[in-house]
Parts: sequence; structure tokens; C-alpha cells
Amino acid sequence: MDSGGRAVEAVELRPGAEPRFRAAGATELAGRAVLVTGADGLLGSWLVGALLRRGARAVTIRRDDRAVSALALLGLADRVDVVHGDICTEGLLARTIGEYDVDSVFHLAAQTLVGPANKAPLSTFETNIRGTWLVLEACRAHGVERVVVASSDKAYGRQDALPYRETQPLQAIYPYDVSKAAGDLIARSYWHTFGLPVAVTRFANLYGGADTHRSRLIPEAVSAALSGRAPVIRSDGSPERDFLYVEDAVAAYLAIWEALGRGQGRGEAFNAGDGKPHNVRELVSLICRLAGSSVEPDIRGAGVPAGEIDRQWVDASKLRALTGWEPAVTLEEGLRRTIEWYRAHPAARVPAPAERSETPAVLD
Ligand SMILES: NC(=O)c1ccc[n+]([C@@H]2O[C@H](COP(=O)([O-])OP(=O)(O)OC[C@H]3O[C@@H](n4cnc5c(N)ncnc54)[C@H](O)[C@@H]3O)[C@@H](O)[C@H]2O)c1
Repeated sequence: MDSGGRAVEAVELRPGAEPRFRAAGATELAGRAVLVTGADGLLGSWLVGALLRRGARAVTIRRDDRAVSALALLGLADRVDVVHGDICTEGLLARTIGEYDVDSVFHLAAQTLVGPANKAPLSTFETNIRGTWLVLEACRAHGVERVVVASSDKAYGRQDALPYRETQPLQAIYPYDVSKAAGDLIARSYWHTFGLPVAVTRFANLYGGADTHRSRLIPEAVSAALSGRAPVIRSDGSPERDFLYVEDAVAAYLAIWEALGRGQGRGEAFNAGDGKPHNVRELVSLICRLAGSSVEPDIRGAGVPAGEIDRQWVDASKLRALTGWEPAVTLEEGLRRTIEWYRAHPAARVPAPAERSETPAVLD
């Protein structure tokens, strides 16, 4: 549903076609210049598609030119204004916001992988914490009208009570999780202290086409199933997570952006997920079945990997109550779309473990 309680129409993704997503009546974005940090990533690329379809101008800051880019895979690469650099470069954000006349910011750029964060945390802390305050400070200095900052369900850390609710304290203890908790607190301080209209998202694990991270579970499992090889699971398959289809996540971001425009949600955090935990082994088996493959998961771990939490899922009722948002795509349907996307884009598939150096199938 969109913010007005109207049905969100998620249009079937045809193999090879640009994804289309419409929320009825969302015309408020037309003509606005919107900065999406991290637009080359999974969520950012789909969000850019949604913004462009609503007539917004999308601007991003690109640090890395990667061989496989999500924006390019979605056919959007030449429709975005790109400022080259690192969000941590002093002055770059202020220049971008000023010169491109940005009035709204979706801050998604982050070092998002748990494995690298646990091996060497400094780049994670640098981008996810310092990068976040630099974004916020530039927004404050330039009077940006609305800011949505990506935190994560990981910011909650280990909790006795599940699903996570926004009222629970942030108890992160591992580097990636701590970096998101710190950015989350800093972002909300900008509303409470400086009146910057900012809201924070704490979403579940996202998935969909055009995820170019080879170490993530769903790209690995889908690629493996489509190639007829056994998907590698790094844990023992028992960890439980909540999975949110990327277009549903985009709809939630737009609903929060609309709420900010109505003067709601400022200084607040919002969960989104499909509210049902699934264990990794069952998820991978479901992917294999939906892909029409008889391969069995290759379970390589014993227990939960170090630096990760065994069970995580969120309660999204706060966001639903404020905006009417709820997931429009079931897990099966989202996985079907993801499988079809990777079927149509073989170059984006994760190669077999022997052909690459990364440790596969992490639960980021
Ligand atoms: N993917 C998930 O399951 C998930 C779940 C909850 C929250 N989140 C959060 O949502 C946001 C988007 O996630 P995603 O999966 O799309 O991420 P992603 O890793 O796919 O994309 C992140 C993008 O940020 C860019 N980036 C990183 N450091 C940068 C820097 N210093 N300067 C400029 N650009 C930089 C990367 O190059 C990349 O394009 C992140 O903040 C993440 O923490 C993700």
C-alpha cells in the first residue's frame, strides 16, 4: 500500500526488461533532484529506477567503478547524474547538494558486508559512521528538506524478544552491526538537535535481481541452482532471517519519504520485513525447487558463523500504522522474480567457488 492506503502495483518483471514499479498517486517527486548515495548497490539501483519513473532527477556519488554495476544491469546507468568520489571526502557532499540543487537525500552508501567488517573493520566504521555524519552535516548546512538514512535490523544486535520492535534498545556488538547502530543514533540526533527532517530505516535482509555481491546468500543460491551446482551455505543452515524483496523495500523508503513531507516520522526509526523468519537451509532448498533444480545445498559450517546472530526478524507494524505500507510480494514470488532476473542475466551470476576467491554464502 502507498502512504494514502492505495494499493502499490508491483508489475511482473519480464526477463531482460527494465523493472517497473508504481505506487499509485506518487507524483510529488516529479522534477525534484534526489541524491541517492550508494545508488550502484542493490537497493539504490532499484530505488533510482522508482525515482526516475516518478519524474525525479537522480544524483549519486560513485566511489568505485565496478566491472558489474547494478545500475547498468537495470538499464539505468546513463540516466543518473554521477559525482565521482568517496562520501567521506570533505566538501564533496556539500558541493553535490549545492550544485545539483538537491532537496531530498536517501543515504544508502555503506560497507555492507559482514565478512569484511569482521576481518578489518576500519573501512566499515569510516564509511558507515563518519560517512553518515558527513552526509547529515551537508544536509543540515544546505537545508535539505527530507533525509532517509539506511540503518539495519542488525543495529538491534542480540535481543531476548523477537521480532525486533523500534522501542528496543540498539544492542549491536559486532563491527558492521555497531556501525549501523552508530549511524542510526547520529542520524536521529540531527532531528532532535538541529531539526533536520530525517528518518531511519531498520530493514530485514534484502534480495532481488542485480545484487552484485558474490558473498551474499541469495545471489549465490540462485546462481548455483541455475547453473546446476550445489549452493554453498557457510553456516550449518540453521540461522533464521527475515527476507524483504527489494521492490517492497523501495516502496517502504518512498512511503517514509512521503511521511516526512507530511511532518511525520522525523527523528524516528522504522522496521520493514515480511515478519516471518526462514532458516537458511529451507530458503536455499526453496530457491532450488523454484529454479527447477534438483541440486542439494553444500552445507560447510558448524553452527552460526562467528560475528553473526542466529535469529533475527522485525515487526513492521509501526511503518504499516503510519503509512499503510506492507509487503506486496511474497517470499516465493520475490524469489521467482529474482531467479528469472538471474536467468536473464547470466553474466551477473556468482561463479562456482573454485573460480573465485571469496568465502561464499554469508548472511549480510
Ligand atoms: N542488503 C541488505 O540486506 C540490507 C539490509 C538492511 C539494511 N541495509 C542497508 O541498506 C543500504 C543499502 O544496502 P545494499 O545492499 O543496497 O548495499 P550495497 O553494498 O549493494 O551497495 C552499497 C553501495 O555503497 C557504495 N559505497 C560504499 N562505500 C562508499 C563510500 N565511502 N563512498 C561512496 N559510495 C560508497 C558501494 O560502492 C555500493 O555501491 C546500506 O546502508 C545497508 O547497510 C541493507
